[in-house]
Amino acid sequence: MKNAFLKEAETKKALADFILSTDRLSMGNHCSKFEVSFSTKQQRSNAVLFNSGGSANLAMLQALINLGRLNTGDPVAYSALTWSTNTMPIIQMGLEPIALDCELDTLNVSSQKVKERYEEVPFKALFITNVLGFTADIDQIKKFCNENNILLLEDNCESLGTVLPQGRTGNFGIASTFSFYVAHHMSTIEGGMVCTNDKELADMLKIVRANAWDRNLDKKKQDELRETHRISDFESNYTFYDLGYNLRPTEITGFLGNYQLQFLDHTIDLREKNYLEIEKAISENDDFHNLDHAHILKLSTFAVPVICKTKELRQHYLNRFDSSGIETRPMIAGNMQRQPYYTKYVKQLFELSNTDLIHSNGFYCGNYPELSTDDIALIISCLEK
Ligand SMILES: Cc1ncc(COP(=O)(O)O)c(C=O)c1O
Repeated sequence: MKNAFLKEAETKKALADFILSTDRLSMGNHCSKFEVSFSTKQQRSNAVLFNSGGSANLAMLQALINLGRLNTGDPVAYSALTWSTNTMPIIQMGLEPIALDCELDTLNVSSQKVKERYEEVPFKALFITNVLGFTADIDQIKKFCNENNILLLEDNCESLGTVLPQGRTGNFGIASTFSFYVAHHMSTIEGGMVCTNDKELADMLKIVRANAWDRNLDKKKQDELRETHRISDFESNYTFYDLGYNLRPTEITGFLGNYQLQFLDHTIDLREKNYLEIEKAISENDDFHNLDHAHILKLSTFAVPVICKTKELRQHYLNRFDSSGIETRPMIAGNMQRQPYYTKYVKQLFELSNTDLIHSNGFYCGNYPELSTDDIALIISCLEK
């Protein structure tokens, strides 16, 4: 992403005007307004705004622990092709991380992989990541979780706007997280969200987000808590009900969220168009594995994932991108089990052949709405055999 925002100049001007005119910059009405507009867009009844996608993931797990729906020691399966701050709170909270392999043609965990691992280790929760706008058969994963009483959580930080015939990604689990970091589908500079239809969970997320006090809850819920714990209105200012953090966004986050949301649909269309054009070059070159997204109605990408057939080929194409002045990145964190921090804390490791292949042979470059015809032609030229 070259810019921090969609419609950069216009957004910066609006932000400057907002800062000059507002008398409040800490979390307030702009954040609440963004929560309402985002939950409407995502078609979930609750959205809780955070200061990052990582914070959203942390809070989601903490809230489930506070509610007793997850307990220390519970096995939590997760997509091994993911981001560090998905797995870290699993470890930090004393849960047991169980790595799942992905499918090579979708980059995602499939119901088959979920079932195989569940037979080995019956896990309590499944925290999947919808990788780079793609999914596998997430509807079948949901069915399996429902049948086996598994809590399904979705990290949708990389897939805001992807739509399947069965619904939008982020709406299959009991809760889902989003990131508004600069390079994602829409930016609030830093920012994140948890969406859920579960009001009890949404209330606990608000407690976890802000010091574990009740100030951001509705009156009915506040009264309930204050009555249970015999707390006066005066004491309630500094009463802390459960385990929490300070993960609050600012009004700048809220203002930017509302502003950027108006451009989201259009930019998702542009990114999809860019991706499909570039993908043709990938499918015409037998140095690469192809990705399958025939089951996806709207493919909301923000990067172009490339999986080379060998490690040597990856180096060859990385050199080409580099000499053309195009930045590349590893395919997220690769196999999370191979990250230095992981084996320090986790002893149970699993064989993950597809994720390993992506770890050693995969990379991606950016796909953002301002890419010009020349930019796209340059990326395509780097992907030709
Ligand atoms: C899948 C996934 N989850 C979570 C995050 C963390 O989001 P943030 O950078 O907003 O903390 C990222 C970051 O890129 C991500 O790719």
